[in-house]
Amino acid sequence: MGVANNRSIAWGCAQAMEEQGVEIIYTYQNERLQKFISKLVSDEDHIIECDVASDESIDHAFSLIEERFGKIDGIVHAIALAKKEELGGSILNSTRDGFNQALDVSAYSFLAVAKAEVKILNNPASLVTLTYMGSDRALPNYNTMGIAKAALESAMRYLARDLGPKEIRVNAISAGAMRTLAVSGIQGHADLLKISQSETVDGVNVTQKEVGNICAFLMSDLASGVTGDVIFVDKDVHLR
Ligand SMILES: NC(=O)c1ccc[n+]([C@@H]2O[C@H](COP(=O)([O-])OP(=O)(O)OC[C@H]3O[C@@H](n4cnc5c(N)ncnc54)[C@H](O)[C@@H]3O)[C@@H](O)[C@H]2O)c1
Repeated sequence: MGVANNRSIAWGCAQAMEEQGVEIIYTYQNERLQKFISKLVSDEDHIIECDVASDESIDHAFSLIEERFGKIDGIVHAIALAKKEELGGSILNSTRDGFNQALDVSAYSFLAVAKAEVKILNNPASLVTLTYMGSDRALPNYNTMGIAKAALESAMRYLARDLGPKEIRVNAISAGAMRTLAVSGIQGHADLLKISQSETVDGVNVTQKEVGNICAFLMSDLASGVTGDVIFVDKDVHLR
């Protein structure tokens, strides 16, 4: 969930899993984004609309998935959204509406999707979401999204607790900063990317594919002992 274009982290995850022979079903947010995903994925059956801000849309999407494919082995949730005003300057710029939307789409949606999906999951299965280190430190401009990521990581741990008995693992990948559509909404994102790059061990930002490879690992049974965890894929930046 969350391929907007070929720069999306979700696309890196899909590519890495396809290399391992995984069959992928792609969901997209709305009609506007459908044409982008249609350029990347030729089989229309494998592309399904799912706006995670709407329970109806989520239910419809997972019913369609069940109808077309039966049970599935997991999801990759690579979705976030916040208004520009929530992503710059002081956290005091945050508004009730902007805050609620960011938390709804970027954090609650993981729970909402898990709820709808659990009925059609195989056992074992794996859920992975994408987070950022702005969840536990006050980074410039990240603001409301940092709060949303903290909530998302917490939701991930509670899901891991409650789905663990069903052999469903739940984890988050904390990815290093990379240029995508979502990042371009953050005020001063060019500086964020530059600083992040300079803090990697080798001066090169991580790629979508590098994050995707860890995602493929977490989605596989090779990671059967890993759940409720945040795995950093940022070439050491969070240790600075
Ligand atoms: N790019 C980075 O530097 C970075 C670093 C760490 C974590 N992340 C996280 O990775 C995830 C993917 O972001 P990205 O950087 O690949 O950007 P992206 O813009 O390519 O992906 C964000 C996706 O969220 C989707 N989305 C937004 N609102 C939605 C809704 N209501 N319903 C369904 N989908 C919706 C968009 O359509 C888009 O596909 C996000 O959670 C982001 O916070 C990104």
